[in-house]
Amino acid sequence: MRTSIAIDGPAGAGKSTIAKLLGKKYDLMYINTGSMYRAVTLFAMKNGIEPNEIEKLCSLIDELEMHFENDDLIVNGVDVSKELTNIEVTNNVSRYAAVPEVRQKLVQLQRGISKNYDVIMDGRDIGTVVLKDASVKIFLTARPEERATRRYEELIAKNVKVDYNSILEDIKKRDYIDSHREVDPLQKAEDAVEVDSSLMNIHEVVEAISKYIEEYKNRA
Ligand code: CDP
Repeated sequence: MRTSIAIDGPAGAGKSTIAKLLGKKYDLMYINTGSMYRAVTLFAMKNGIEPNEIEKLCSLIDELEMHFENDDLIVNGVDVSKELTNIEVTNNVSRYAAVPEVRQKLVQLQRGISKNYDVIMDGRDIGTVVLKDASVKIFLTARPEERATRRYEELIAKNVKVDYNSILEDIKKRDYIDSHREVDPLQKAEDAVEVDSSLMNIHEVVEAISKYIEEYKNRA
């Protein structure tokens, strides 16, 4: 059976940093499902398609060939990673991610990848919906203020002009939309282990989660 590690949690909890490191450590393909929702948002906005235009959204997704290379999402042969984190995409992604038909299509793609590769996948609904039988499920959290500080420092390091309070507001707004939407809301799977990273550095989080992965490997 293939190995699959599910990491869910709210915006800015550190999922992608941690998942990338664990992917390298255990030789797993890192699948960032948030970037798939971001790609749909980017291309929908480029084409002037609103979240309520379901048919147009579905045909758009059918035309997007997505795969991961070295942790980056390639869409129709182009590495779009840089565009995916722009502010318009960030501010709108939760609206597109709340559309059931969009979720259905992306979940299907994500399950397909996990059938062919050993994966570490991060998102909001991996342990609860996409990979219900994941080998290890982690729910990674941190206080909103801590998450906003991390996002702020990340953007400042990239020379992006940002304001701490608007980042905190965005994080709280996305937490609310992601946890209250009708389809596949962000929630901890019953069998997930919760890791609160508020007072931990990256190395400590990697070590904490590695312990659960090692336990699984010893059992398997
Ligand atoms: O990195 P950050 O936490 O800012 O967000 P992300 O992981 O790139 O995800 C962006 C958005 O996509 C989230 O706020 C969710 O609205 C949506 N998403 C989702 O609905 N389901 C997933 N499995 C992953 C992301």
